[in-house]
This record gives sequence, structure tokens and C-alpha cells, in this order.
Amino acid sequence: MSRILVVSFSWTGTCTRLAKLMCSQQPGWQLGEIRLEKPRKGQAGYWRCVLDSVLRLRPAIRYEGPFPRDFDAVVLVSPIWAFSLAGPMRSFVHTRREHLPDVAVISVMGGAGAANAVREVERIIGRPSALHAAFTMQDVESGHAGIGSRRFGDALRELEDSKHPESFAALSPRPA
Ligand SMILES: Cc1cc2nc3c(=O)[nH]c(=O)nc-3n(C[C@H](O)[C@H](O)[C@H](O)COP(=O)(O)O)c2cc1C
Repeated sequence: MSRILVVSFSWTGTCTRLAKLMCSQQPGWQLGEIRLEKPRKGQAGYWRCVLDSVLRLRPAIRYEGPFPRDFDAVVLVSPIWAFSLAGPMRSFVHTRREHLPDVAVISVMGGAGAANAVREVERIIGRPSALHAAFTMQDVESGHAGIGSRRFGDALRELEDSKHPESFAALSPRPA
């Protein structure tokens, strides 16, 4: 089976919830989390998030999780801020761009901006994403995102397994 890592950033909890759900649906998938070096709160924090997006800033972050380069694919789960990729995910992709395997992108949003986030990730890594999808915050909170996240996970697993047939060969019994 292909090795897949789900990396999320979340300011208000929705993306982490979706990332955990996806890992619980796909046996063996691992989780990593991006955190802001300086946590943000309240109105000032909100406007700092907007500024990140408008000015394409890369705020200081900490990453807690396994090394992405040890995996066949990484699923990035991030909120949309001001119709763009959230700043902390921009920081992560930018810092790790040389070491990222296949990249799949999941955006969680109120309703608009996911296409911009996918384009930005692809521009930073210099290649197309393996797969991308968007969920609304409401879908995640109500539980409706569960079906979509399972489909997304299944599709990515099939795609990666077809690209790495050696992982099947290693598991198959060898002829005597
Ligand atoms: C600063 C800020 C800007 C946002 N801008 C957008 C936006 O442009 N489009 C949108 O659909 N949702 C927008 N949202 C809503 C978030 O994308 C949505 O609430 C998401 O689920 C938050 O994920 P989180 O709970 O993991 O932080 C914005 C939220 C914040 C805090």
C-alpha cells in the first residue's frame, strides 16, 4: 500500500477535524500538523490572517509530524483566507517544496477561493497536484463531508498504488 501523509493547518479547528476524519477512514495514513509560531486571537488575529493572504506573506510556523519525503503522497488540508491559500500552509509548501512527494490539495472554506489555493500550491511546487477537492466548513461541521473525504481518499490511494506497483509486489507471496 502507498504511504500517505495528511498535513493540516487549522485556525478554528475545521481542517484538523477533516484531516483526522480522512486518516480514520484510510488505514495506515499518518497525520502531521502545522502551527503558527505566534498564535493569533480575536479581531487582530483575523486581520493578520487576511493580510497574509492579500500580501502573500509566509508567517513563521512549526511543523509537528513525520517527514513528508518519507511518503509517496502528501494531502494538504488548509482553510481559504481572503480567496487564497492560508498563509501558514503557504509557508509549509514553500519551505518543503524540494522534498514534497506527490501533492493533493484539500481546501475548506465558507464558499469561494479553492481554485486560487490549488493554483498557488502548483505554482510553488512547479508541477500539477495529484488531486484536489474543496469542502465547505458547514459540510465538515455537519458530518456531510465524510462521504466526500472517503471518496477523495480512495481515489488518491488507487492513484498512488497504480504508480507504485512495487508496494504490492513486496506484499505478494513469492513463487517457490
Ligand atoms: C481570515 C479569514 C478569511 C476567510 N476568507 C474566506 C474566503 O475568502 N472564502 C471562503 O469561502 N471562506 C473564507 N473564510 C472561511 C474559512 O475558510 C473557513 O471558516 C474554514 O473552514 C476555516 O478553517 P479552520 O477552522 O480549519 O481554520 C475565511 C476565514 C478567515 C478566518
